[in-house]
Amino acid sequence: MNCLGRMTIALAMAGAMLVPAAAWADGTVEVLHWWTSGGEAKAVGELKTMFEAEGGKWIDSPVAGGGGDAAMTALRARVVAGNPPTAVQLKGPNIEEWGAQGVLASIDDVAKAEGWEKVLPPTLAKIMKYNGKYVAAPVNIHRVNWVWANPAVLAKVGASMPKTWDEFNATADKLKAAGITPLAHGGQPWQDATIFETVVLGLGGANFYRKALVELDEAALKSDTMVKVFDQMRKLRGYVDPAFSGRDWNLATTMIIKGEAAFQIMGDWAKGEFLAAGKKPGTDFLCAPTPGKPGFILNSDSFAMFKVEGKERQEGQKVLARLIMSPKFQEIFNLAKGSIPARIGVPRDKFDSCGQKSMDDLKAATAANTLVPSMAHEMAVPRSVRGEFLDVVTEHFNSDMTSDEAVKRLAAAIARATK
Ligand code: GAL
Repeated sequence: MNCLGRMTIALAMAGAMLVPAAAWADGTVEVLHWWTSGGEAKAVGELKTMFEAEGGKWIDSPVAGGGGDAAMTALRARVVAGNPPTAVQLKGPNIEEWGAQGVLASIDDVAKAEGWEKVLPPTLAKIMKYNGKYVAAPVNIHRVNWVWANPAVLAKVGASMPKTWDEFNATADKLKAAGITPLAHGGQPWQDATIFETVVLGLGGANFYRKALVELDEAALKSDTMVKVFDQMRKLRGYVDPAFSGRDWNLATTMIIKGEAAFQIMGDWAKGEFLAAGKKPGTDFLCAPTPGKPGFILNSDSFAMFKVEGKERQEGQKVLARLIMSPKFQEIFNLAKGSIPARIGVPRDKFDSCGQKSMDDLKAATAANTLVPSMAHEMAVPRSVRGEFLDVVTEHFNSDMTSDEAVKRLAAAIARATK
């Protein structure tokens, strides 16, 4: 090979090496999220991998703490300091609230170019916008009202998945009598509230849920049905083990995996933990909608983009937004996370029986008007109002407060918060 030939090859190689570096300079994101459990980390890792494969630079900013309360505190501090992350795991009315503060960046050009309006359910599309412009991109649809179980543990008392709360209590009593912890639970306010809202749906039905937890209707909050909800919460308190207080949700899932408890009531991010531990639905673990009246409690994760300086970071936001809504990402991410795609039209064949049930039930709930937003997971009411629910529910769970007293306190707290 002559000298010119060698130079051409050398230049071509240098050029090839330069391509990622150039693209790298075009896209940097710092991503604040609370996905630190095994299943969660695996799922968010898929987004990181895809972003890096496009030549982007990913700066990971995880803030541990299920449900995201600690992450939201960290976010506030960063924004107040004038140094927001580029992309933040944010959802529901929180997006609107941050939008009103004037700190969110528009990704409307990406949404238009990629045709998001055609592939997003209208309810989700609305949540992702501020002032009619897209400022966030949804990654998934989680269902909150699931009960998970270890079939081998249920077999010890000859039980199957309960369809009503009375059946649940009867099975739990049998388990307790056999020396088995019926309910794996972590005593943290958001976990107490997660269980609470499934009981509200199961005993009251979707219309009651909407009146009480979304419209904050005083009569519903003070109703006999709400008294019954707290009665059931008291029963559930009797089914947890003595070490429940403060336990992280994923450690409660581990109790089911190890056969140390029978049931866990938790959204389908719990499935991410079972899968990350190599467990198979239907054989190693069971999933069923929480007992009682039908419905689908919706929780959708999304990433909101914050106003940041610098072309490189602004480019990074666009690349991230485009990747998040791509059918490939929506499939890969949700297979690991336990949720289902937010985007319409992603093939369902790779999803397991729990995932396919979620898809079917979502469709049925939409048709029957029994699709309701999660209060505990910040899809229904402002953070301040959610805080009032969490306080009363947790105080009741951890004391001998009567159901009547809890209902009285709840109605008064919500009235105060919404005055
Ligand atoms: C939820 C979030 C889920 C999940 C869970 C536990 O609020 O939407 O993605 O990971 O918290 O951390």
